[in-house]
Amino acid sequence: MDKKRIFSGIKPTGDLTLGSYLGAIKNWVGFQDEYECLYCIVNEHAITIRNDPEVLRRRSREQLAQYIAAGLDPKRSIIYLQSHVSQHAELGWILGCYTMMGELNRMTQFKDMSKKHPDNLNAGIYTYPVLMAADILLFDSQLVPVGEDQKQHVELARNIAQRFNGVYGDTFVVPEPFVPKVGARIKSLTNPEAKMSKSDDDPQGSVYILDEPDAILKKFKRAKTDSLGVVHYDPTEQAGISNLMTIYSAVTGKNFDEIEKEFEGKGYGVFKPAVAEAVIDTLRPIREGAEKLIAEGELEKIYRDGAERASAIAEKVLDRVHDVIGFVKR
Ligand code: TYM
Repeated sequence: MDKKRIFSGIKPTGDLTLGSYLGAIKNWVGFQDEYECLYCIVNEHAITIRNDPEVLRRRSREQLAQYIAAGLDPKRSIIYLQSHVSQHAELGWILGCYTMMGELNRMTQFKDMSKKHPDNLNAGIYTYPVLMAADILLFDSQLVPVGEDQKQHVELARNIAQRFNGVYGDTFVVPEPFVPKVGARIKSLTNPEAKMSKSDDDPQGSVYILDEPDAILKKFKRAKTDSLGVVHYDPTEQAGISNLMTIYSAVTGKNFDEIEKEFEGKGYGVFKPAVAEAVIDTLRPIREGAEKLIAEGELEKIYRDGAERASAIAEKVLDRVHDVIGFVKR
């Protein structure tokens, strides 16, 4: 029997963070044996905000290097850049005709982005979830591993697939979101009410995968906590400490009870550097591996091969869609 398929992606709008790693990439690695996986650098999604072209290019390459250094294997998985596979945009147009404006109005990310970028409220920000649905449906993906913030978009992709199938019969596989139990919602270190984000205005709030160890230690030492002085999991009363516990749990595999016991009677002055050290140990091999890959210049071969394999799958699905809609065969 064919393996089930997985699709996921990250947009290169900023340097990858510990949130991108724990919410997404870390889990992607483990799926590679059991599933046929496609992991994309979704650069078409990145242009809803303005980027310096050279920075976007550099980040896209660096993102690929970090994917591989984190354990994504280009032999087993299909790793590529979205703009190299034109079927994403083609299916995006088609699915837009099967998406209701009311559905797009309800997307919380659209509402947030409208507030954040009132000076550049372009149509791409609005139709972004349609392109994301196309990314997923283009490969008959069964499972879509994402952090909590992207679950609503995957649910929209499900609705679009079901609506389309309702009109034309079974055409698309209806995908399921996969949200990890720990690490799905990593918060900013300086503002534990907000998510840790690639595009945060305050770089002290985010730990980047490519950060040097001393920068990571400094960020954790300055992380916002509270005056209670006990390492205890309570996201309402102790949002900062609970976030640090989540991070520690995700990188060490220890559960919250074990962490509370480990730091019983010890202050934040002991806990914060311990979290920092665990994160440094996790990220170090990824940073070093990515730097090596960039220096070796092997990336081009990897993303070209990935795009070729992705296109071969996408072409078949797009032909199926064209056929049921009533487009004349090429
Ligand atoms: P993006 O680029 O914002 O984030 C990439 C992935 O990382 C997860 N993530 C987090 N998880 C936990 N805590 C955080 N602080 C955190 N920050 C980010 C996100 O949930 C996501 O899984 N629209 C998507 C990209 C996309 C996509 C797709 C994803 C485009 N097409 C198709 C899956 C399938 C996005 O903006 O993710």
